[in-house]
Amino acid sequence: MSHTLKIGILGGGQLGRMLLQTAANYPVQTFVLENDSAAPAAALCNVFVKGDIRNYEAVYRFGKMVDVLTIEIENVNLEALFKLEEEGLRIFPKPAALKIIQDKGLQKQFYKTHAIPTSDFVLTDNETNLQQHLAFLPAAHKLRTGGYDGKGVEIINNETEFSRAFPEPSVLEKLVDIEMEIAVIVAKNEQGEIAVYPPVEMVFNPVYNLVDYLISPANISAEHTLRAQKIATQVTHAFNSPGLFAVEMFIDKSGAILVNETAPRAHNSGHQSMEGNFSSQYDMQMRVLLNMPLGNTDTICPSLMLNLIGEKGYNGPVQYVGLEKALRLKNTFVHLYGKSETKPGRKMGHVTILRKTTEELKVAAEEVRKHFKVIC
Ligand SMILES: Nc1ncnc2c1ncn2[C@@H]1O[C@H](COP(=O)(O)OP(=O)(O)O)[C@@H](O)[C@H]1O
Ligand SMILES: [Mg+2]
Repeated sequence: MSHTLKIGILGGGQLGRMLLQTAANYPVQTFVLENDSAAPAAALCNVFVKGDIRNYEAVYRFGKMVDVLTIEIENVNLEALFKLEEEGLRIFPKPAALKIIQDKGLQKQFYKTHAIPTSDFVLTDNETNLQQHLAFLPAAHKLRTGGYDGKGVEIINNETEFSRAFPEPSVLEKLVDIEMEIAVIVAKNEQGEIAVYPPVEMVFNPVYNLVDYLISPANISAEHTLRAQKIATQVTHAFNSPGLFAVEMFIDKSGAILVNETAPRAHNSGHQSMEGNFSSQYDMQMRVLLNMPLGNTDTICPSLMLNLIGEKGYNGPVQYVGLEKALRLKNTFVHLYGKSETKPGRKMGHVTILRKTTEELKVAAEEVRKHFKVIC
């Protein structure tokens, strides 16, 4: 490589931070655009640019400083990205793919157009609309834009629960009778080369509606594994963009696989890949940005990734309890995101555990959960 590639990351959260940890292994200079100068990625980049990722001018000017642009969060200014792309900047994921993904309504229509299995849905604008769709209940009501980590999703079982529905443009989709939630991450480079990770199982925290823990690989049949990987590959091809695509899916009680949603970036469901797979999702993202051959997605050892979230009842300057006890457990790896303030349900870090069997993984995870806590 003739010169140091300048890589720009829109957003300064933990996904950006972990990408930067890997970026340090490559001949690159890293730039982060983020409003919060104390954000997780701020301390690890070469150049921190303070600015709003949703602002046209901020994103456009930032794009002019780098050779390639990527994201660690979807909620970025699209117009600036389209303009930068027109002017020749490499941007992964492509703005056209991001545009579809930013809007859950467009995303669902996209799956339908591309014959990708997904639950039936209708688009709604306001409460009066909803009355016309009683046949869809029970359903999940989702804000078309701006939701994350379960914020912006309401489960509506019957008409009396319509009061919980969103009065803004939303998607009403049939409730899936879920057997298991899984995710498959796919990487695609500019040559069209593809690397597909084994499916992982995501178990959600019912209170906060975010991932509690993952099991990798998911304990599903070989057929389900192949089918899930095939669907995730199909989704990636349909988006027609280099990048990382994390495809969240439901396996329903009848064994059918339905796509829930896709994130065009590194994802919570790939954290375990840092220790559990030969090439991590961040290594893969770097290879895509550098236009290099992709890595090996194979599992080195079964793993469990436990999200460390702020304990209930604690709001303030963070403190970690039980780090030593967690690290005493064999093959246990702690990742803290460097957030100075904790609050209930906030993602503060994660722990990855490697063991030969699911049973051993679960026993070790209970130990970590018992001792290692985020308080203040
Ligand atoms: N159609 C559905 N049927 C059943 N559960 C759903 C459905 N859609 C979403 N959920 C539940 O809500 C969670 C969050 O929904 P999701 O669309 O993934 O939003 P987010 O952007 O917050 O991740 C899902 O992981 C799943 O547990
Ligand atoms: Mg989701």
